[in-house]
Amino acid sequence: MISRAVMPLVAFALFAVCVPAPVGAQTPRPAAPVKAAIAPPVSAAMLAPLAATVRAASSHAPYAAGDCNICHQSADPKQPGPVTRRGPALCLECHDEFAGILKRPHPHAPAVADCTHCHNPHNATQPKLVLDAPRVMCTRCHAGIKEILGSASVQHGALAEGRQCLACHDPHASAVERLLLQLPFDLCVGCHASDALVDAKGRKLQNTKAWLDANREWHGPIAAKDCSACHEPHGGGHFRLLKADYPPEFYAPYDERTYALCFSCHNEKAFSSPETTTLTDFRDGPKNMHFLHLQQGTRGRTCRACHEVHASSQPHHIRAGVPYGSGGWVLKLNFRKTPTGGSCDKTCHQERSYSNRAAGAK
Ligand code: HEC
Ligand code: HEC
Ligand code: HEC
Ligand code: HEC
Ligand code: HEC
Ligand code: HEC
Ligand code: HEC
Ligand code: HEC
Ligand code: HEC
Repeated sequence: MISRAVMPLVAFALFAVCVPAPVGAQTPRPAAPVKAAIAPPVSAAMLAPLAATVRAASSHAPYAAGDCNICHQSADPKQPGPVTRRGPALCLECHDEFAGILKRPHPHAPAVADCTHCHNPHNATQPKLVLDAPRVMCTRCHAGIKEILGSASVQHGALAEGRQCLACHDPHASAVERLLLQLPFDLCVGCHASDALVDAKGRKLQNTKAWLDANREWHGPIAAKDCSACHEPHGGGHFRLLKADYPPEFYAPYDERTYALCFSCHNEKAFSSPETTTLTDFRDGPKNMHFLHLQQGTRGRTCRACHEVHASSQPHHIRAGVPYGSGGWVLKLNFRKTPTGGSCDKTCHQERSYSNRAAGAK
């Protein structure tokens, strides 16, 4: 079994090594996953050959050849009797490549225990002799994931369509932790490389790969290749599968809880202190410009009004423009960095600048 505490994802380790954390930044602690048990065992009835009336999508060569006694005591298909061996030994004498597969750094417990946890040795209604659709079969043991599939208000299309769990996980064993087929970043960016993805409400989703390729100022956790620092892969209760709250709107009243995602790494005081000379560089003298923009009653600007959370082409993750309203019109920010601060022009307002240090000072 894997000790969760000593094995953060590889990406997390990279994150810690390469990225200097900003003042007050902290790494959020991953929630402890629900451990699976190998119970309940598959019943003998589930492993029997399909009734003649059921259409099989796959059929096992030795069974189709009628060689019952390869696995059973007798060659008589009417009375094959009990099987002669149990567990993977029954399968590995023909599938000898599996001896190597199960030696990968992260083998899957049920594959080590008994191949028939997932395969019918005769035939099945699923391809590859698999007992059920992945979502159903995998969650027979993974109750925590079953709970997410049943109750999450934001579902991830990746689990509902196509290969489902198998789009990201190897059912037998993997070189990557959590049985992943590739490092998580490569998996995520691999699918999010299309302009055609839409959310449940039909809204077009960012082509993350194209965006990251075009905008080379990557936000710390992205540079550490850690999409899971902010997103839950299986589904969740927050906007955009985020791990914690983040307002979905352009305008929102300020409440630190609604920015729990950002404040799991950034210091909240930098946004709620009206005056400061240390907490943020987005200030005009001591006047905190973050406070000023965020705390405007119902017209408080959310972070997305100015920042691009994945990547940008300007410093400080300032975006070039922000889609405004439902028509898709883009409001330009015209941000200019200056030696003593910065300015914005012809945006929500005419040119305004801020100065956070005396000219010539370092
Ligand atoms: C590749 C190995 C393999 C082959 C070949 C095979 N079986 Fe099986 N069979 C199994 C295993 C494993 C079980 C599950 C045994 C258990 O859990 O006790 C099983 C279970 C069964 C069961 C259900 C037993 C019960 O107690 O209800 C039937 C019926 C059966 N096999 C019929 C056949 C027939 C008929 C053939 C030949 C046409 C055949 N099997 C060929 C491996 C095989
Ligand atoms: C007597 C040899 C033999 C034994 C024993 C055996 N298999 Fe197979 N198995 C085969 C052959 C032959 C194929 C077809 C190979 C191919 O198409 O490349 C196959 C194919 C499969 C496939 C892929 C089916 C598909 O539709 O592509 C699965 C899954 C599988 N076996 C599982 C098992 C499991 C689980 C056991 C143990 C219960 C087992 N096998 C035992 C010979 C065996
Ligand atoms: C946790 C469930 C699970 C267990 C346990 C399991 N398998 Fe599989 N196996 C699968 C699934 C799901 C697939 C289909 C994978 C795919 O489509 O990429 C599969 C595919 C296969 C294939 C076909 C591979 C191919 O590329 O066509 C073989 C052969 C196989 N399994 C053998 C085994 C053997 C042998 C064991 C025991 C050592 C085993 N499996 C244990 C779920 C499992
Ligand atoms: C027969 C029960 C059973 C089935 C079916 C099953 N698993 Fe597992 N799985 C386990 C057990 C037991 C463990 C090891 C304990 C744990 O880490 O939760 C495990 C571990 C895992 C892990 C690694 C967890 C970690 O923390 O490293 C992943 C990922 C996983 N399973 C995915 C799947 C997928 C995908 C499927 C379907 C193809 C599947 N499981 C089917 C019992 C099962
Ligand atoms: C197998 C393809 C696939 C993979 C791999 C994949 N996604 Fe997705 N993702 C989708 C599809 C399809 C949608 C659109 C449907 C939907 O809303 O879930 C989506 C939607 C999303 C959404 C928006 C959800 C919403 O409804 O607001 C986020 C965020 C997301 N994915 C993040 C990720 C992350 C992070 C990873 C890596 C852990 C990842 N995706 C891996 C296919 C994939
Ligand atoms: C879009 C890719 C993707 C899909 C699809 C996916 N997973 Fe995962 N899964 C991940 C990633 C990434 C992790 C590692 C998350 C982490 O450690 O923070 C993970 C972790 C897990 C774990 C171990 C940790 C935990 O949360 O319990 C299990 C078990 C698991 N997945 C099962 C499943 C099952 C079952 C399915 C299908 C219903 C599935 N996964 C579908 C990406 C995916
Ligand atoms: C620092 C936290 C963070 C990290 C790391 C992160 N995301 Fe996001 N992601 C967000 C936030 C916040 C949103 C919502 C943005 C908005 O609506 O303004 C989002 C939105 C998304 C969306 C929906 C985009 C849309 O058009 O609305 C997708 C898809 C997505 N992320 C995928 C990824 C992938 C893939 C990775 C890894 C390469 C990743 N995210 C890493 C915070 C993050
Ligand atoms: C998992 C931790 C984490 C989360 C969550 C996170 N950040 Fe960051 N953020 C960092 C790290 C590390 C840096 C420093 C590296 C860099 O400049 O990207 C950073 C830097 C920044 C910077 C640029 C600093 C500069 O002056 O160059 C901005 C802007 C920013 N984050 C905004 C956000 C917003 C908005 C959110 C919430 C949607 C958020 N962050 C959530 C870790 C995080
Ligand atoms: C009105 C535009 C605007 C909004 C809204 C905004 N920021 Fe900023 N932010 C900036 C500018 C401009 C800078 C660059 C300051 C400098 O270094 O010159 C900045 C800098 C930062 C930094 C770098 C550290 C610092 O404070 O100097 C972080 C982290 C950050 N913002 C996070 C956030 C988060 C989180 C939100 C939402 C809660 C947010 N910002 C909302 C404009 C904005």
